[in-house]
Amino acid sequence: MIGRAFRLSLFGESHGRCVGALVEGCPPGVPFDEGLVRADLDRRRPGSAPLVSQRSEPDEFEVLSGVYRGRTTGGPVVMVVWNVDVDSTPYDSVDRVPRPGHADYTARVKYMGFGDPRGGGHLSGRMTAGLVMAGSLAKMVLGVLGVSVAAHLVQVGGVRLDREVEPGEIVRAASSGLWCADPSAARLMEEEILRARSEGDSVGGIVEAVATGVPVGLGEPLLEGLEGEIARLILAIPAAKGVEFGAGFRLAPVRGSEANDQFAVSPDGTLTRLSNNAGGVEGGISNGMPLRLRVAFKPTPSIPTPQRSVDLEEMREVELRVTGRHDPCVAVRAVPAVEAALAVALADHALRWLSWVEWGRSLSSGGG
Ligand SMILES: Cc1cc2nc3c(=O)[nH]c(=O)nc-3n(C[C@H](O)[C@H](O)[C@H](O)COP(=O)(O)O)c2cc1C
Repeated sequence: MIGRAFRLSLFGESHGRCVGALVEGCPPGVPFDEGLVRADLDRRRPGSAPLVSQRSEPDEFEVLSGVYRGRTTGGPVVMVVWNVDVDSTPYDSVDRVPRPGHADYTARVKYMGFGDPRGGGHLSGRMTAGLVMAGSLAKMVLGVLGVSVAAHLVQVGGVRLDREVEPGEIVRAASSGLWCADPSAARLMEEEILRARSEGDSVGGIVEAVATGVPVGLGEPLLEGLEGEIARLILAIPAAKGVEFGAGFRLAPVRGSEANDQFAVSPDGTLTRLSNNAGGVEGGISNGMPLRLRVAFKPTPSIPTPQRSVDLEEMREVELRVTGRHDPCVAVRAVPAVEAALAVALADHALRWLSWVEWGRSLSSGGG
């Protein structure tokens, strides 16, 4: 379970009956947009393009509770995606001969051999279907508050999109093939993925997400700072290995005079900044600028290239070639998961913050 106001649990297994999400604390009356859930799941779905896993899942979802007559009821929202195209044969041995980079070894030890190793069980990338559905619901909540969230791919292997992309371009990337805002960079990324796959290997990548319309004041300083709360959800995405806010690691070698986001007044008389190196957060609190972050994904662990592993029953070194249907670059399908993680964290903090706003209204109307 994660969150305090908008609380999320994920359940299911990759090759079990289903994967899904339970959201508690979603306010009543949110217009439930089934088309948004469908579109978000479609971007995450395997078999949707030659560049992703060829497991052919329609990813049909069902809302089991919490929505009535097209709106949320205020009760727990349970959403599931049924597993259909399951082939567990390639997983017969992963319990015994763990895949380097995957969670087979850690899961075997932690769950004392009782875990479900098929397709990675509940440590599979497929668990992000639940996160994506919860993210769609969070986006519906945020939509009511005027906040929007979008993500796209900015790097695959050595191919990087170097220019800063406007939030509007990122939103449009949702309808492009590789979910990258720049078509020429997307073509080069595609070649990089195909090259890795033809060589029996995989590549990593970087996903960028932006939230606009975020009011000043979301996040609690220090232990529940907005960056930490978002990062916790982002790093829950399988294969995510790093997250940076704004200019992130690029701020380390520069001087304060270059790094600081200086204040200014916009033509409409409102406060603005001359840059957004902080990525929209200062002191763990949103500062009103677009919230911008980047997430590094490692290359897919399961690859046909021979690797060294150990037969744990015989404690004998063996050569392992992973078969089955795998993504050559998980960062592609992680794009909607990053978007979802950011949306869930923001919805949680927005719902916490709203009660402060109500309190402020009472104070200014003389209640204090
Ligand atoms: C959407 C998505 C799809 C993934 N698909 C695969 C896959 O096909 N094969 C694989 O080995 N790993 C895949 N992964 C990555 C593994 O799930 C992940 O590396 C593994 O659970 C170990 O977790 P860790 O990398 O966070 O340590 C995928 C991850 C995501 C987010």
